[in-house]
Amino acid sequence: MKRQVFLVGYRATGKSTIGKELASAINWKFVDLDKEIEMLSSKSIRKIFEEDGEDKFRELETEALRCFSKEDKVVISTGGGVVIKEENRRIMENGFVVLIESSMETIIKRMKADSSRPPLTTLTLEEEVKKTISERKPFYEKVYHIKVINENISIESLVQLIKNSLPFNLH
Ligand code: S3P
Repeated sequence: MKRQVFLVGYRATGKSTIGKELASAINWKFVDLDKEIEMLSSKSIRKIFEEDGEDKFRELETEALRCFSKEDKVVISTGGGVVIKEENRRIMENGFVVLIESSMETIIKRMKADSSRPPLTTLTLEEEVKKTISERKPFYEKVYHIKVINENISIESLVQLIKNSLPFNLH
């Protein structure tokens, strides 16, 4: 297995925060895939969706994933939709995949407080979250090695939990 950790899970489950803390705890590089896509295209994710469409975003996402999966000792936090494509799942399966889950209520609450995430459908936020989670669930389930629940738990405890489950010799 490659020395790579991929954090997957629905939007607003805490992947980036946990990924950053995990990388720092094990002294590995941290990559936030969405941030890299924004830097590569000099546009916010919201702008890419609005001006170029979701398909273009998905191309950039796979390109970025391909590029950063060449790194050694890296923690990569991904966007919630990365699991949809088989190619992306194949890339991640070479490393260790951590699925982060939160309740639908928590996700909706966090998303309402953050306007940077573009809508994926024309549905209401509640309907969209419900629909896309159920569509993606089989893919999340297919790809993960461990699953953690980010609900009523501190980031430190979650990071410790993940760190203890890593199948790598960190010394
Ligand atoms: C998406 C999730 C976003 C971002 C893009 C699409 C999705 O990342 O990649 O807006 O399809 O679920 P987060 O999971 O960090 O919000």
